[in-house]
Amino acid sequence: MATKVILDVDTGTDDAVALMIAALSPDLKLLGATTVVGNCPCTICTENTLRVFDHIGVPIPVYQGMVEPMVRPDFDRPEESEVHGKYLDLPESTSQAQAQHAVDWLVETFSASAGDITLVPVGPLTNVAMMLRHCPEVAAQIPELVIMGGAHHIGNRSALAEFNIWVDPEAARLVVNCGRPIRMVPLDATHKALISAEDCQQLRGLGTPAATAAATFIERRIEGYDRSQPMKILNTAPVHDALAVCAIIDPTVIKTELIAVDVETKGELTDGATICDFGNRTGKAPNVHFAMDVDVPKFKEMMFDILGRRA
Ligand code: BDR
Ligand code: CA
Repeated sequence: MATKVILDVDTGTDDAVALMIAALSPDLKLLGATTVVGNCPCTICTENTLRVFDHIGVPIPVYQGMVEPMVRPDFDRPEESEVHGKYLDLPESTSQAQAQHAVDWLVETFSASAGDITLVPVGPLTNVAMMLRHCPEVAAQIPELVIMGGAHHIGNRSALAEFNIWVDPEAARLVVNCGRPIRMVPLDATHKALISAEDCQQLRGLGTPAATAAATFIERRIEGYDRSQPMKILNTAPVHDALAVCAIIDPTVIKTELIAVDVETKGELTDGATICDFGNRTGKAPNVHFAMDVDVPKFKEMMFDILGRRA
């Protein structure tokens, strides 16, 4: 039976690939997407998400969420990001977001569920934290959260912090300590799963709307990464959020370790860092299955297989 999922996104080029994988995989049932401020202002993330679903022809509802982080003011982001641009390179959407606020929809949907919907946040954790703050009982209804975020050895927004956690560390701290099973797909894993320009050519060759769009988005990422944060191999880029979705379809695509993780919210140099207690020096109960490794061939095979499908 297909696993029910909700994706919380800040679309975003890699969110877009993750959304297409979630919508087209026969192993997942995507109930809806909620949008949050992150890669772009929230209204642009919403429009981008609608564009993706229009493009692949799936009528999945989109709910717009938090336009600012929970405590801190929204950060000063460039008008056009190196790896995401502003609007996705797809026709303007002809659909509308739902009228209900994302946080209200999440509370309502999880409350009414049979406890069988996996929550997949691949943007800052503001919507999820607001849901838990607004209605703490809802936590018991979430069987698992699969989060793209965090980092142990490497940061991308600062020396130690990963972007999604850095944007709203207070929200992330609340979520990682919510007491529910959590799998975290951090930069340590996603930076090992690099997609190359040749992979993009192969994707484009599949000829489906999803594969063609994914190739365009990933090529944009490769240009951005080569310019602003080159990977160990030039002409490649990580597609972070897609790996988190693939890990739900086949958990063996990542290798995790159960450890205690917390989030720094008061650091002068370390704000938004995920503090990973691999040696259990704090004695804190382990709360996160943290991924440090990836089966790269499996990841690519899954991406190609699913993006090669049509709705
Ligand atoms: C994360 O930050 C965003 O820019 C990406 O969409 C991804 O979710 C990687 O740090
Ligand atoms: Ca994202």
